[in-house]
Amino acid sequence: MSGATTIRRAALNDLLAIYDIERKSFNHPYGFVVFLTLLASPSSLFLVAEDSGRVVGYAVARVEERNALLLSIAVHPQHRRRGVGALLLRSIIRQLPEEVEYLDLQVAVSNSAAISFYEKHGFEKVGKIPRYYKDGEDAYIMRLALTS
Ligand SMILES: CC(C)(COP(=O)(O)OP(=O)(O)OC[C@H]1O[C@@H](n2cnc3c(N)ncnc32)[C@H](O)[C@@H]1OP(=O)(O)O)[C@@H](O)C(=O)NCCC(=O)NCCS
Repeated sequence: MSGATTIRRAALNDLLAIYDIERKSFNHPYGFVVFLTLLASPSSLFLVAEDSGRVVGYAVARVEERNALLLSIAVHPQHRRRGVGALLLRSIIRQLPEEVEYLDLQVAVSNSAAISFYEKHGFEKVGKIPRYYKDGEDAYIMRLALTS
């Protein structure tokens, strides 16, 4: 069982653990340099979930003026379905600047686990991007309207 999970800002020291989770979670993972760049960017909101001193998940969003894009969220396979993803997503939403009206994301149409997770948190499918991924798979655009 997991102990108390805490959410905090990601730091340089977390990147190897984040990258490990990324590679375990996606067929086409982001490269390490992408995470370095996101960590250094002032428009990123980059959080990790920590359990017993170990990073077990992360979420990163890019904040634009009135909307934000959830670039990635992943939980270590051994820690899934215990609410860690929910904690991360709720923390991202809470920490977005007040003027942000929408949180958008893209998700592979076959990723039913993630789609169900997002729908549970109020996201709706608002569009589809044909052949969004390298392997030719389409992506849904999902959107959460934020109310202040
Ligand atoms: C999506 C993800 C971040 C959810 O994290 P999590 O910690 O497991 O999520 P939570 O425990 O907070 O929420 C679980 C809910 O998500 C949905 N869900 C998660 N995994 C699921 C699965 N395998 N099948 C169906 N629904 C699933 C369900 O609604 C579930 O609720 P339930 O357990 O009451 O049925 C995690 O599955 C993950 O890392 N997936 C791989 C990376 C990924 O696809 N990220 C999204 C890319 S757009």
